[in-house]
Formats: sequence, structure tokens, C-alpha cells
Amino acid sequence: MDAERIGAEDWNELQRNLEASIPVYDKINRFATLGQVSKWRRMVQDRLPAQGRVLEVGCGPGSFAEEVVGRDLVCLDPISEMLRAAQSRVDPKREARGDSAVEFVEGTAEDLPFDDDSFDAVCSLFSFRDWYDKRAGLAEALRVLKPGGVLVIVDPAKINRLHGALGWLWMRVWVGTYARLVYRKSDHPWRWLTRTYSSFGTTRVYVRMLEEVGFSDVRAKVVFPGMATIWQGTSP
Ligand SMILES: C[S@@+](CC[C@H](N)C(=O)[O-])C[C@H]1O[C@@H](n2cnc3c(N)ncnc32)[C@H](O)[C@@H]1O
Repeated sequence: MDAERIGAEDWNELQRNLEASIPVYDKINRFATLGQVSKWRRMVQDRLPAQGRVLEVGCGPGSFAEEVVGRDLVCLDPISEMLRAAQSRVDPKREARGDSAVEFVEGTAEDLPFDDDSFDAVCSLFSFRDWYDKRAGLAEALRVLKPGGVLVIVDPAKINRLHGALGWLWMRVWVGTYARLVYRKSDHPWRWLTRTYSSFGTTRVYVRMLEEVGFSDVRAKVVFPGMATIWQGTSP
């Protein structure tokens, strides 16, 4: 596992652990981020065009999707159980607001099952870190975006090595202890958070990767040191 790739064996194990996190995903996420996660989700939504077709890659149990207002939304995830959890949560909320029904699609970032130039925006919240080939996933996002379309990603990147060590301690001790209490066992799925965080790169690594893949106007903002960076790029 490194800043760019996760090997097949590790990725499959990670996915099994993510699936096991579904029942308590939001509870632990809120604790881990001191409740800041809702603010970061709003920041991502504010960066999306007000209308148009939006793809969320790695939608998980629908934590962001349920809040997306007014756009046509496609939610993609490799775990069918995640998609089922997301659908039962997101559909009633969107229907009540009068928003269009979400299209739920099983698949991976690295091999998006969509035509070229078919989205006005692509976003990914706390999923990019889990992609098994980040460069390939970014190239796919660029392919499906219309010219001028925007990509927005949020995930916890490090600023530098020292900062990464502090972040590791936070995940291991603060989040790990809470997850142990919630699951009532030390062998809980959130141990994988520390692993993926450790191998994930710095904010700057992915700014460079977005530019190398071909995005223009690439920007990154560290919104909460160690816990959230928002990257943004435009399809030329
Ligand atoms: C931590 S959850 C994020 C859930 C949600 N987006 C949120 O805002 O909290 C990460 C999700 O990314 C998905 N994922 C992992 N690898 C992926 C890949 N290669 N392509 C697309 N999604 C992936 C996982 O299945 C999981 O549902």
C-alpha cells in the first residue's frame, strides 16, 4: 500500500472491513472528526455546480448523497450492501424534497461504467484514500467530465511527516479506542482507517497527481489539519 496504489489483497480486505462498518459508520465518523464532518460535506456541496448531473464516487451508505439538493445524482460504490444502505436512506429524503431519483451503480473509480463527457461534476468524500489506483481513478473522472466540469475530493491528507505522525496517533488512540468500545472487541473494522491514513500522501502529492492527469486550475485547501483537505480541479 502506498500513496498511489493499494494491492489487490489489501484492497479486498479493506472492502470487507468497510462493509462491516455500515451500521456505525456515521456515529464513529462524527466522533472521529469532532462533529466537523457535516461542515466539510457542505463545503464540497458548495463547490458543485447548482444544477446538472453529478457523480459521487464511493458513496458509502449515502451520508453525503442524502444532503445533495437540486442536482441529478449518480452514486457509485463497489459494495452492493453500501448501495442498498444508501438507497433506503437517500430515496425518501430526495423524494420528500422533490429532487430526482438517484441512479445507484455498482463499480469502481478505476473503471467507471459511464460515457465520456457525461457529468457536470464528480465528487468523492472519504473514498479517494481507498481507491486501489488513484491515478487511474482520476483519469477516469476526467474522462467522464464534460469540458469545464469540476472534480471535488475531500479526504484526510498530511501536511508533512510530523503532522502525519500526529494524525496517526489521533486515529489510533482517539478513534481506535472509541471503535473498540462500540464494537466491544479490539479486532474492529476501523483499524483499517489507520492503515489507509498512514499510506495516504500529502496534500501536495495529489495536487501534482491531478495536474499530471490533466486537470486544470487545480487547488487544495487544508480545512482541518490532518483530517480534511479539499482538492478541486477542472476538466479543460
Ligand atoms: C469511508 S466510505 C465513504 C462514504 C461516503 N462517501 C461519505 O461521505 O462518508 C468509502 C467508500 O469508498 C468505497 N470505495 C473503496 N474503493 C473504491 C474504489 N476503488 N472505487 C470507488 N469506490 C471505492 C468503499 O466501498 C466505501 O463505500
